[in-house]
Amino acid sequence: MPVNIKGRSFLKLLDYTPAEIRYLLDLSKNFKDMKRAGVPHRYLEGKNIVLLFEKTSTRTRCSFEVAGRDLGCGVTYLDPGSSQMGKKESIADTARVLGRMYDGIEYRGFKQETVQALADFSGVPVWNGLTDQFHPTQMLADLLTIEEKLGRLKGVNFTYMGDARNNMGNSLMVACAKMGLNFTACAPKELFPADELVAECRKIAEENGCTVRLTEDVKEGTTDADVIYTDIWVSMGEPDSVWTERIRLLKPYQVNSAAMANAKDTAIFMHCLPSFHDTNTTIGAEIAEKFGINEMEVTDEVFESKRSVVFDEAENRMHTIKAVIYATLK
Ligand code: CP
Ligand code: NVA
Repeated sequence: MPVNIKGRSFLKLLDYTPAEIRYLLDLSKNFKDMKRAGVPHRYLEGKNIVLLFEKTSTRTRCSFEVAGRDLGCGVTYLDPGSSQMGKKESIADTARVLGRMYDGIEYRGFKQETVQALADFSGVPVWNGLTDQFHPTQMLADLLTIEEKLGRLKGVNFTYMGDARNNMGNSLMVACAKMGLNFTACAPKELFPADELVAECRKIAEENGCTVRLTEDVKEGTTDADVIYTDIWVSMGEPDSVWTERIRLLKPYQVNSAAMANAKDTAIFMHCLPSFHDTNTTIGAEIAEKFGINEMEVTDEVFESKRSVVFDEAENRMHTIKAVIYATLK
C-alpha cells in the first residue's frame, strides 16, 4: 500500500511505522538531490508555517526556515519570549488560534504533553522540534546519514554513550528498533532509559530483527560498533546544579580514541550537536575552569577526525525536515 501521511502530526517516531519512516528517508534523499542540482521545488506555495521555540536552537530553527522557504511557504518564527503562549494564553487556546492562520506548526519546548496538546487542538499538522522526551526530526537526519555513510541501516551496530534517558537516548533507541539497527545504550545505570520504554522498544526490535541492549561496560558497549553516538551531558532546561553529578557519572563514557579503537575500523562518530569538544564556548570555558576538564562528551581529536560525520548529519536536518513538512502538508 502506498504511504500517505498528509495531515498527520510528527510528534514521536513511535507513532510511525518502519514503512512510513522509509518513505520519509527516501523523500529526503530526493529533496537533497534537487537542492544540490538547483532544481526548484516550491510545491507548497501559498502555505504558511509557524515555528514556536521555548528553547534555543540553531540547526532545527534554520532547517525549518530554509526548508519551509525552499518549499514556497511563508514562515513565522516566535522566540521563547515573544508569544503569549503559556504565560497569558493556554496551549489549547494558542493552538486554536494558530490553527486558524497556519497550515503547520513546529514546536520546541519542554513537555511532550505540550506538543501533543498543540496537535490535539490546532487541527493542523504539528512537528516536534524537540521536547524533554523526544527529538524525532533529529532521528530522520541521523538515519539518513548512517545510510549514506554505511550503505545500510539493517544490522548496523549502533552505540549511544552518555545520558541514555534524555530526549536523544530515548529517540535513538526507538529509531534503531524501528529500522532494524542493533541499539546499545552504554551508560551508567542511573542514566539508563525508563524500563517501560526499553520494554516497548525491545518488542519493536524483535519485530524488526534487531536488539536493544543496555550496558555500563564501555569495552562491551563499544566493541564492534558501526556507529558511536553521543550528546551533551546536561540538556536544555536542566539546572546548572546537575553538572557535578553528571560529570562524575559520565566522564567514563566520554567518546575518545580508546572508545573508537574498540569499534569497527569503518565506524563513524555522530553527534546531534551542539557539542562541548573544546573550551571555545562560554559554557565549555566555565566547566573547564570549575571542573578542570577541557573536553566533555567527546574529545576534540575524535570530533575533528575523519570518522566524524557530524556536519553531514547537521546538513541532513534540513533535507529531512523538508520531507516532513512536504509529506504532511502536500
Ligand atoms: N541538534 C539540534 O537540535 O540542534 P539545535 O539545538 O541547534 O536545533
Ligand atoms: N539533549 C540535548 C539535545 C540537543 C539537540 C538537549 O535537549 O539539550
